[in-house]
Amino acid sequence: MASASELLKSYQPSFSLPSLPIVPDTNPRACVLDQFRTAIAQLLSDSLGIPIEQAYNGVDYGKKGEDFTVALPRFRLPGKPDQIAQKVIEKFTPDEYLESVVLDKAFLHFRLNSSNMIRAVLTQVHELTHVLPKSSTDPGIYGSNSLGEGKRVIIEYSSPNIAKSFHVGHLRSTIIGAFLTNLYKSCGWDVISMNYLGDWGTQFGLIASGYEKYGNQEALEADAIKHLFDIYVQVNKDAEADPEVKVQAAAWFKRMEDGDESALSNWRTWRALSIKKYESEYKRLNVDFDVYTGESEVSKESIDKALARLDELGLIEDSNGAKLINLEKYKLGKAVVRKKDGTSIYLTRDIGGAIERYEKYKFDKMIYVVSSQQDLHLAQFFKVLELMDYEWAQPAKQSLLHINYGLVQGMSTRKGTVVFLNQIISEAANVMHEQMQKNEEKYNAVIDPETVASEVGITGVKIQDMAAKRINNYTFNWDRMLSFEGDTGPYLQYAHVRLASLERKNPHLLPLAPPSELKLELLAAPHTSSQARDIAFLLGSYPDVVKTALKTHEPSGVVTFAFRLAHAISSAWDAVSVKSLGEEEREKASARLFLYFSARDVLASALRLLTIRPLDRM
Ligand code: ARG
Repeated sequence: MASASELLKSYQPSFSLPSLPIVPDTNPRACVLDQFRTAIAQLLSDSLGIPIEQAYNGVDYGKKGEDFTVALPRFRLPGKPDQIAQKVIEKFTPDEYLESVVLDKAFLHFRLNSSNMIRAVLTQVHELTHVLPKSSTDPGIYGSNSLGEGKRVIIEYSSPNIAKSFHVGHLRSTIIGAFLTNLYKSCGWDVISMNYLGDWGTQFGLIASGYEKYGNQEALEADAIKHLFDIYVQVNKDAEADPEVKVQAAAWFKRMEDGDESALSNWRTWRALSIKKYESEYKRLNVDFDVYTGESEVSKESIDKALARLDELGLIEDSNGAKLINLEKYKLGKAVVRKKDGTSIYLTRDIGGAIERYEKYKFDKMIYVVSSQQDLHLAQFFKVLELMDYEWAQPAKQSLLHINYGLVQGMSTRKGTVVFLNQIISEAANVMHEQMQKNEEKYNAVIDPETVASEVGITGVKIQDMAAKRINNYTFNWDRMLSFEGDTGPYLQYAHVRLASLERKNPHLLPLAPPSELKLELLAAPHTSSQARDIAFLLGSYPDVVKTALKTHEPSGVVTFAFRLAHAISSAWDAVSVKSLGEEEREKASARLFLYFSARDVLASALRLLTIRPLDRM
């Protein structure tokens, strides 16, 4: 299957407007609004004598009711804003791109040619969704771009610790990381998604000694994650009562680090079974990984090499036999890099791991999706790589990126605190299921309520998590996130289901003709309310929403877009209705249906980008 970049290159839209110069970094084949913005830029460039690129950069989305707005002071031209504006206004004549321009203080508001904008956008949505990618299972590439062509990124996320609890921090990393994976892919990057398990460290010495006492093969096979956690809790209690337990555990871990096979074989089984269990849970979340790796996989050699190099650079200090790295000069404190008994630690493994990854994958960028609680850790470890003089680790390259996020309070189920990922998944499904049962009539009409409840429940969790800026803390609230009212996941699924139902309810209009044969100008007719136009314009802005997300690494912009679209659709529902039109208005009905199908395609794309599976019925 060809990549999105390749497909975009080969795409020839069936609808075209007079040709315009191509402004660098724009791509009308991927985002037709680029072409309309270019028309504005050309007018500004001709009338004000500024380069077209500069003019283009001054064209912003307008506030509600305006398409694009230009803040004139931005060009720093001599003269008063209204004299400058007059030059533009004098030169303006309505054409195939632009309908009008209005001066408002120092701003010029441009309105696009409605018919052409609607036709251009809807044709593009349709062709990039349904015509270009030939396979019926392919969701299409509208919204995609080629910004990352030829570049490779490693995105490390989720990264839970074996035998410890899967906490909300891991859940957020999983949700945000999976979103970033989709985002980079849709921007043409070659993405390697990676789960870096906490599968190494002294705690495995503890579990090993606990396993001798409490281990049970059957329980392990039934649910490795839970069994190992239980043992870990037990043995920690034992260790509190008897200091000897810790000494033994440390000795055991030392044997593991020295590669003693007899100390490693149980651990290998635990790890494999834990991964298997995680994989099935990730699958329910619509998340997957190209690579499962972990702290255990960082080789001793690369750690030793790194430490030797740091020593050479004079960055290592000795402290009672342990080794410290002094980063005080950079306000990053001091950190232990090797314990007294010679075993490695978290920080050192990250340093060695990054070097190995570069050698293996030659990435252009590597992203770590880790809670802001580890800001210092990430800053230390990036600094160390920089000091070691790796070219790829120099800050100017911007290739190492820590994507952090805030805390979540109060994540619990009705049975108590959450310790495992599957508890979150099943609680979401259960709470949603009960919610659905409250409306008996509707509930009975649902074909597979369990699956629907689970998908909608997971959507609720994800949307709540991604609705605000990553760095914000929030409080986990089942009722709020799973309500059908307000800006919630269930509301978005409902909006999609409603659009999907149009296909089932209008068989007499199907199949629709291709856009070139539809009277889409009927959607722009002045007597129709502006709702249809608003929806089309919003759909046209989706590729920009994706681009912005790539810059900010924030899912919230995509969530906001999905809500705006869902609201626009719901306020159009009566004014731009399909069902109220009779047979004599078939052309209008078809045009409206086409608009809603396009809206559905884009809403589905936005949801998929957010790792959500859009539902057709619920
Ligand atoms: N396993 C770690 C934890 O649970 C997170 C790992 C983050 N990634 C990294 N390369 N340090 O805290």
